[in-house]
Amino acid sequence: MSRTVLVTGASGGIGKAIARRFLAEGASVVLSDRDEARCARTAEELAAPERVSAVAADVADPESARSCVRTAWEHADGLDVLVNAAGVYPSRPLLEMTDAQWRAVLATNLDGPFALSTEFARALVDRGRSGDIVNITSGAGDRARRGAAHYCTSKAGLTMLTRALALEFAEHRIRANAVSPGFVEVDSDVNPLSAEYVRAVEAGRPWPRPGAPDDVASAVAYLCSEDAEWITGTTIAVDGGVGAGNAALPLA
Ligand SMILES: NC(=O)c1ccc[n+]([C@@H]2O[C@H](COP(=O)([O-])OP(=O)(O)OC[C@H]3O[C@@H](n4cnc5c(N)ncnc54)[C@H](O)[C@@H]3O)[C@@H](O)[C@H]2O)c1
Repeated sequence: MSRTVLVTGASGGIGKAIARRFLAEGASVVLSDRDEARCARTAEELAAPERVSAVAADVADPESARSCVRTAWEHADGLDVLVNAAGVYPSRPLLEMTDAQWRAVLATNLDGPFALSTEFARALVDRGRSGDIVNITSGAGDRARRGAAHYCTSKAGLTMLTRALALEFAEHRIRANAVSPGFVEVDSDVNPLSAEYVRAVEAGRPWPRPGAPDDVASAVAYLCSEDAEWITGTTIAVDGGVGAGNAALPLA
């Protein structure tokens, strides 16, 4: 059955790979990102005009996030899947971090998925429809990293929000799961990373090839498939084994 999927952060590396994967499976996709020009460029790039539409929204603004779901629902005549992939991961040591910097990351990475997911679920419940939510978390939600207290906290919160959504929405046949990527290269202008940081992260990865946005998209597609019908409230780590341990440590 053909489904309609709303993807936030759809102009970013991971979001775009997820949108492309759903299109390849025959779904229709509503792309959402912060500004219209960015969304329009992505829609053009995905080259499937009859199955792609776009709704610009700032997920850090709860009203914009909720209205994104409502507009997408109207444009697409209903939604079946929500993927919360919009996110920011700036670096700032705690002793230099302002309240505004802390809030901005929490607002985008945690408040946004709360507003989107609850609005999406409300629309489904009102119409007696089932659906799937997938949140893109991060290994940073399990392991603190210097300069990323706001980011790590937001993703740990998003993991717990995913479980809470799963628990409360199960009776409505709405599943909620998360995919937790390790580092995957995305060439982002929104979220630049230093070469030194990337080298250090890659050195600790057990699996002998770099991860890619498509690896994340595959896990999202699986979680939204019929094969995963009994899976809710869980997180799949897609990280080349980084969660298992640090491969860069020498033998003792
Ligand atoms: N790339 C990685 O290594 C990695 C690892 C773990 C988790 N993640 C998570 O994956 C998700 C996607 O990140 P990415 O690496 O593709 O980065 P990216 O910068 O390529 O994409 C992020 C997208 O989110 C959008 N966005 C940011 N703030 C927004 C807002 N307020 N409203 C609407 N859109 C907004 C940006 O415009 C951008 O298109 C994020 O949630 C990130 O935390 C990424």
